[in-house]
Amino acid sequence: MPFRTIIEPFRIHSTQAITHTTPEQREAALERVGYNLFGLHADDVLIDLLTDSGTGAMSSRQWAAMMDGDESYAGSRSFYRFQDVVRSLTGLKEVIPTHQGRAAERILFSTVVKAGQVVPNNTHFDTTRANIEFCGAEARDLVIPEGRVPATRHPFKGNMDVAALESTIREVGRERIPLVMVTVTNNSGGGQPVSLQNLQAVRAVCERHGIPLYLDACRFAENAYFIKLREPGYASATPREIARRMFALADGCTMSAKKDGLANIGGFLAMNDPTVARECRNLLILTEGFPTYGGLAGYDLEAVATGLDEVLDEEYLKYRLRSTAYLAEKAEQAGVPVVQPPGGHAVYLDAKALLPHLAPAQYPAQALAVELYRVGGVRGVEIGSVMFGKRTPDGGETPAPMELVRLAVPRRTYTQSHIDYVAEVIADVARRKERLRGYRIVEQAPWLRHFTARFEPT
Ligand code: F0G
Repeated sequence: MPFRTIIEPFRIHSTQAITHTTPEQREAALERVGYNLFGLHADDVLIDLLTDSGTGAMSSRQWAAMMDGDESYAGSRSFYRFQDVVRSLTGLKEVIPTHQGRAAERILFSTVVKAGQVVPNNTHFDTTRANIEFCGAEARDLVIPEGRVPATRHPFKGNMDVAALESTIREVGRERIPLVMVTVTNNSGGGQPVSLQNLQAVRAVCERHGIPLYLDACRFAENAYFIKLREPGYASATPREIARRMFALADGCTMSAKKDGLANIGGFLAMNDPTVARECRNLLILTEGFPTYGGLAGYDLEAVATGLDEVLDEEYLKYRLRSTAYLAEKAEQAGVPVVQPPGGHAVYLDAKALLPHLAPAQYPAQALAVELYRVGGVRGVEIGSVMFGKRTPDGGETPAPMELVRLAVPRRTYTQSHIDYVAEVIADVARRKERLRGYRIVEQAPWLRHFTARFEPT
């Protein structure tokens, strides 16, 4: 087609009202929740870019499939459909449904990870890291050096540093590495893709040392489309073919279907090793449910099965990646540096670059996130030292390598004018950036503190 504009490949079939608040209401809300945006009542948020997880709009096909969900406790037809879809996508034999990604993580790590071990990943997502640390093991991030510098452009900034993986195995010893994980796309590193070439190289190292390779596959379809666009040799492959090649390199995966499953809840754990699968299923029964539903309703399994199919539609992926890049371009035009190139599901504002007057200990990304809400009711999330700062024994803190605010775009939910509004809010904050003040933490939990910490302006 001769037209340049990439449009939403759907029309809107039902709508949900969003509510405007006054500046006074937002200020009161901020004080009430201790400046932690996770504490807000969602009705006090106008445009919610907190996460792309479970917040997307389902299609009429998904809703229709849900009506046909089979709620049998054991052996539900919906489970067999779900299993077929996951098997044909991933090629993995053992399919274990879970209520979301972190349940898959907890079950897998409780089964295969022991205290004192080390799990390499390009970059662990926060729940992945926390679940590994909860087992007494170390979660080690081995993304390529380019992946740690927001302004550096690289087509596959999520790639794992293969030399660093080799030297980690040498240093730690093969027997202390129960598995290697690769997160596609690399959420905590900016939603950046991993190339097939890199996955093949990681696979080769794992094979040489006899270490299983697992994908954290939450955004596998976005990753596949980046490969199609950027990796030589795949321009004419379909996203499904590319996704199959990615999964073919893995011994297993954890999946949050709340992302590229296009569902509001759900996930799975899949692998080839029947012994590991048996142990995982035993734990599943203990805490999630019987192996043919794993904490999900039959209708959820239907929604995920349909979503996993729809997400690989090329028109959808083209629109998805373009609409995220559009927001990134607007933020840059407003003078706010963003992680380059933009990721698949989110735009990451570089608060360290925007607010050089705030030290990491003053949580510049928290300050920026709070200001976007204060000014325009836009909710993003801090991905910086609040989330990943490490507390030291002397009561101090080692800051995170980057101070980012993530604006995650829910799938099929907001229109271009919503995004134009967000860009105006960003521009307004950028104009007054010198006046932004930092924050200090006045209350925090021992792990995953960003969800519940309370702050005070400094
Ligand atoms: N792995 C990655 C890469 C993720 O992004 C997430 C969730 C999980 C695992 C855990 O999945 O939420 O279903 O338990 N990420 C969401 C986010 C919460 O906002 O990025 P879950």
